[in-house]
Amino acid sequence: MTIKDEINRDHELLTEWRRDFHAHPELAFEEERTSALVAERLESFGIEVDRGLAKTGVVGTLKAGTGNRAIALRADMDALPMQESNDFAHASKTAGKMHGCGHDGHTTMLLGAAKYLAETKNFDGTIYFIFQPAEEGKGGAEVMVKEGLFEKFPAEAVYGMHNWPGMPVGEFAASPGPMMASFDIFDLVIRGKGGHGAMPHQGVDSILVASQVVGALQSIASRNTDPVDALVVSVTQIHGGDAYNVIPDEVRLAGTVRSFRDEVRAGVAPAMKRIADGVCAAYGATAELQYQKLYPATVNSVEETEQAVAAAAALVGADRINHNPVPSMGAEDFAFMLREKPGSYVWVGNGAGAGGCMLHNPGYDFNDEIIPLGASYWATLAEQVLPAER
Ligand code: NI
Repeated sequence: MTIKDEINRDHELLTEWRRDFHAHPELAFEEERTSALVAERLESFGIEVDRGLAKTGVVGTLKAGTGNRAIALRADMDALPMQESNDFAHASKTAGKMHGCGHDGHTTMLLGAAKYLAETKNFDGTIYFIFQPAEEGKGGAEVMVKEGLFEKFPAEAVYGMHNWPGMPVGEFAASPGPMMASFDIFDLVIRGKGGHGAMPHQGVDSILVASQVVGALQSIASRNTDPVDALVVSVTQIHGGDAYNVIPDEVRLAGTVRSFRDEVRAGVAPAMKRIADGVCAAYGATAELQYQKLYPATVNSVEETEQAVAAAAALVGADRINHNPVPSMGAEDFAFMLREKPGSYVWVGNGAGAGGCMLHNPGYDFNDEIIPLGASYWATLAEQVLPAER
């Protein structure tokens, strides 16, 4: 591996920073302490700092040479509303909040790269370091974009990275096309006519109708969608009834929908409404659907993914890059930046350590061993995409 020596020398310092972020998790749009530390450190490296986009967002600007080209590197800063089960010294000091997705590590790796790039300036152009709030469910990336991120910081491409537990340390994965799915949610109310559980003929049984609807919704993925496309329609909540002998007036269903293509995604809400209305009509009930589109799919562009893979390969060797990873049905709000600019989102192996926990698991921890690797990836990518004049 050819990790940057300068970054390796900072491994201990960066590990301290990462563990400090881990011990002080902050939720979406509340990253006051984290963003203040990020801004302070960027300024100490001599990087120009802009604060306040999407409330707690931080963008650093670093120029070198004479070039006018510009790229953006992005990390996320927020933690999750969950209780950490780890008892090591750097475990969360705040009950009910935890860096369970490794954004503490993402922030640290980008800081490590910014420090190196500001010291060495071995590139020609402008690098924007984007530290975004609220990746977890609140769409901080979308807010930054809406508040003028790329008008203010006109990058030609944007790059993202996420650690991936279970993938060996020293491996990267990226491919053009979808890496993560779109993320939608729905609420569906089935209204019948309640009555005595012993005299169902006097009402319209909302429980029976709702169970028919739950089954019928599975035909959207299996019968209305091209079999080569991926789609998940999951009913994850059923609420109805309080007594053994009362048929309730209504049942509330809720769930999530995931897909990789806009065309597939666009078809789901209309199909859901058609099925719910049709099944309900057959039984004399009615349906009310509320469907919310949250994150689009995270889709990598071809050229920028070739650049990302080349940078990772320069670090760890081409044989340690997975060029064809199976996309995840999870979602990622970096998708909103990729809707505006070409770019690439890569996974970096977090190894099997920390109990081998998957993201969002109470026993998860970011692997400090990969900090120099991730920081060197960012630095190498910047130096390769914006080569210094020789
Ligand atoms: Ni995450």
